[in-house]
Amino acid sequence: MRKPVATVVSDQIQKLGYRMRPSIALQESRAAISGRVADTGECFEASAEQSLFRSMAAAGIEWPVSCRNGTCRTCLARLLEGAVVYDIPWPGLSAEEKAANYCLPCIARPVADVVLVPA
Ligand code: FES
Repeated sequence: MRKPVATVVSDQIQKLGYRMRPSIALQESRAAISGRVADTGECFEASAEQSLFRSMAAAGIEWPVSCRNGTCRTCLARLLEGAVVYDIPWPGLSAEEKAANYCLPCIARPVADVVLVPA
């Protein structure tokens, strides 16, 4: 079985005696992002690889959810801290809501530690 290209390149770089920049190594090792529901104090471990809702559910946190695709707005929340990204260009939020830090946890992926409350 062939190795992924990134692995081959990484192996070649290490054979030449170079080391990865600390910032790159840190990014790769920091898979976990912390999350907190402000009004209950519940904390969870999140990941940029999955939605906030999935991370909260994995931690046993109950959060209102329905469509899970960013259209019904059942999961609407407001971010008090942190930032999220979406895989779709314009989820079911108005420009004003986005500017006011509202988010849809069913499809929002965190890119920093987050603190949120239900809207
Ligand atoms: S559950 Fe429908 S928008 Fe999040």
